[in-house]
Amino acid sequence: MSTATAIAHPNIALVKYWGKRDSTLNLPATGSLSMTLDIFPTTTTVSLDEDAAGDILVFNGDERADGPAERVTRFLDIVRELSGSAVAARVETVNTVPSAAGLASSASGFAALAVAAAHAYGLDLDARALSRLARRGSGSASRSIIPGFAIWHAGDSDETSFAEAVDAPDLAMVVAMVEKREKPVSSREAMRRTVLTSPFYPAWVSSTAESLDAAAEACRAGDVERLGRITEVNALRMHALIQSCDPPIRYLSPVSVEIFDRVAALRDAGIGAWATADAGPNVVVLTRPESVTAVTNALEGIAELAVARPGPAAALVTRAG
Ligand code: PMV
Repeated sequence: MSTATAIAHPNIALVKYWGKRDSTLNLPATGSLSMTLDIFPTTTTVSLDEDAAGDILVFNGDERADGPAERVTRFLDIVRELSGSAVAARVETVNTVPSAAGLASSASGFAALAVAAAHAYGLDLDARALSRLARRGSGSASRSIIPGFAIWHAGDSDETSFAEAVDAPDLAMVVAMVEKREKPVSSREAMRRTVLTSPFYPAWVSSTAESLDAAAEACRAGDVERLGRITEVNALRMHALIQSCDPPIRYLSPVSVEIFDRVAALRDAGIGAWATADAGPNVVVLTRPESVTAVTNALEGIAELAVARPGPAAALVTRAG
């Protein structure tokens, strides 16, 4: 019986992915830029089972037969097609990030699953092929294959849509966990609704493409101020876009807004700090490592805090059989 265990970390986008041009292949409308974190890892074991009638998903110790299990099976079907195998698998995954709370749990989840499943099914994939495979499970997972800072090239086909590493200045992130409950609307449904109903969507696509070019240039130049400004503007544009759907969706809570305000006050006081948030109320503050204490002091008491630095690539831990 072939078994492989892999570990991957979440990533937080500085320039966001929001909107697909192809929802089967998970091709995004625009490229994006992220930092893979060194905290909240997901560890996933894939064990092939010749005798099993179907795949089994055990998520944080609980066997699941609902949506997540179907998503895992759809993903394993892609791996089975690539490997020419029809064998079912048992997938055991332990996630240390609060699930579905807008903290990129699907990114670390599908990155770890891509690496473990590729090895368990005997596929020999390089980082680019793993990034493309992880993308099929969850778009943002393409970036969690890559260590540190990654650009996901939008591409226009399965072959051309993948993430790769970029050099960036020395940075840290302070994660403010406002809410650990599952978000009411999944990012998949919210993206679909955005593309179909928001009159602002075309402007989002064109402005994000420009922001990505500017952010990539700021990374290369080591320009933290410029990268930070782009990060906060892009996040708030994404949330404005999401709120402009019909029916509307609002992921930020009053506490999230209060954190954005406190971060703006830090900037007024001369501290380089910029806020961002994914599809949920949690807020992540980008800052220089030497300003982490100023940021955590400013956010003390408003939310549970965690400090992250650039993290490692998704990696195989063990393999047997
Ligand atoms: O990968 P998904 O389908 O969970 O979408 C992620 C979307 C955001 O987290 C909001 C933005 C991003 O680029 O990670």
